[in-house]
Amino acid sequence: MKTVRDDFTILKRQVNGHPLTYLDGEATSQKPVHVLDSIRAYYDQENANVHRGVYTLSQEATTSYEGARGKVAELVGAASPKNIVFTRSTTESLNWLAQGYGANLLEAGDEILLTQLEHHSNIVPWQVLAKVTGAKLRYVSLTAAGEIDPADFKGKLSEKTKIVSFAHVSNVLGSRAPVKQLAALAHEVGATVIVDGAQAVGHFSIDVLDLDVDFYVFSGHKMLGPTGIGVLYGKTDFLEAMTPVQYGGEMIERVTLETSTFQELPWRFEAGTPNIAGAIGLGAAVDYLNEVGLAEIADREERLLAAALTALEKIPGVTIYEPRGAKNHYGVLSFNLAGVHPHDVATVLDMAGVAVRAGHHCAHPLMDYLGIQSAVRASFAFYNNQEDLDRFVSALRQAQEYFA
Ligand SMILES: Cc1ncc(COP(=O)(O)O)c(C=O)c1O
Repeated sequence: MKTVRDDFTILKRQVNGHPLTYLDGEATSQKPVHVLDSIRAYYDQENANVHRGVYTLSQEATTSYEGARGKVAELVGAASPKNIVFTRSTTESLNWLAQGYGANLLEAGDEILLTQLEHHSNIVPWQVLAKVTGAKLRYVSLTAAGEIDPADFKGKLSEKTKIVSFAHVSNVLGSRAPVKQLAALAHEVGATVIVDGAQAVGHFSIDVLDLDVDFYVFSGHKMLGPTGIGVLYGKTDFLEAMTPVQYGGEMIERVTLETSTFQELPWRFEAGTPNIAGAIGLGAAVDYLNEVGLAEIADREERLLAAALTALEKIPGVTIYEPRGAKNHYGVLSFNLAGVHPHDVATVLDMAGVAVRAGHHCAHPLMDYLGIQSAVRASFAFYNNQEDLDRFVSALRQAQEYFA
C-alpha cells in the first residue's frame, strides 16, 4: 500500500503553497497512471471506431472496448458481459431506467419507492416519470443512525409498489444499505429493484447476483476511471423489458425506409459511436482495483474514516452527520463547524491545500431531514494517508481560530 500514492501523480502537486490533500474522492476520484496510460495507448496505438471495421485497428479497438465490458462484468459479479450497458454516468443510467423501463411499466396509481437519503439523480428522473404516468412517489425514512429504516421500508411496500430505487452507500452520511435484505422484501411484492451504486463500486466487493438486484448503476469517474463513462447493469429479463432511449447507428440490426430492428443486448442501448477511450480507461481502473485488492481498499478506507471520526470528535463545535455507533459507514464524513458557513470552512481549508466539498451535496431532501442547508464533506480514499488526515485536522483548527 505504501507505493499506491506514487501511482497518483496529482497527489504530488502543491496547492496554494501546500501539498495537495485531496479529500473529495466521492465527487470524483483521482486517477492512477495506469488509467491515464491506457487512454493514451488507445488513442496513440489503436484509435479506430469499434464494431464496424474489418481492418486490424478497428478489431483491436473493439477487443479493448468489449474487454472493458468483460472486466466490469467480473468486478460486480454479473452473469455475462451482455448484462453490462455502457452509459455516460450514474445520472444517465437512472434517466434511462426511468424513461426506458419505468415508462413501460407504470400506470396511474402505481408507486415508486425511494428513500430520504437519495442523491438528486435518483429522485428527479422518478419525479418526472411520476408526473407523466400518474404514479406516486413514496419515501422511506431513516433510522437515528442515518440508515434506511428496514421496518419503514417494509411498511411502505405493497402490491402497488412497482419500482424501488435506493443508494447502496449514501454520499452524505456514508451509510450502507442492507441491499440483499431490502431487495428480498421488495421482490416479495413483485417490485423491480434498482440500486444506485455510485458510492459503492470500487470501495468494497459487490456481487449483483448475490444481492439479487434487478438493476445496478454506477459512474466510472468515482472508481478511478475517467469521466463520461457509466454503467447500467441489468438482469437479462429486465434489460429485455427496457426500451432504448437513444436511436441511431450501432444499435440497429436492419433499417428500411419504414422501420428498423435493433441489435441484441447490450448493444441496442449504445446508439452512435460510444465512449471507447472512456470504457478502456474504466477497464484499466478495474484492473488497478483488482491489483490493489478490494479487501485491502475497504480495510484501509475504514481505518482512515475511523481515525478521522475520532479526530473530528475532539474538536469542539463540530457536529458530525454520521452518528457514532452506526454500523456500515463508508468513505465520507459530513459535518459543520458551529457559527461558520461550510463554504467558508472549505475556503480556509483550500488555503492550506485541503480539498473538501461544501454544499448540499445534491441531496436537498436529506439536508431538509437533517435540518441544515449545507455541510462540509471530507471523503477518505485508500490513496489518502495519515498525513492527509493530520493536515485536514490542523486546517480545520485554523478555520475555527480564524472565524472565532
Ligand atoms: C449516490 C450518488 N448517486 C448518483 C450520483 C451521480 O453521479 P454522476 O454525477 O456521476 O452521474 C452521485 C454523485 O455524486 C452520487 O454520490
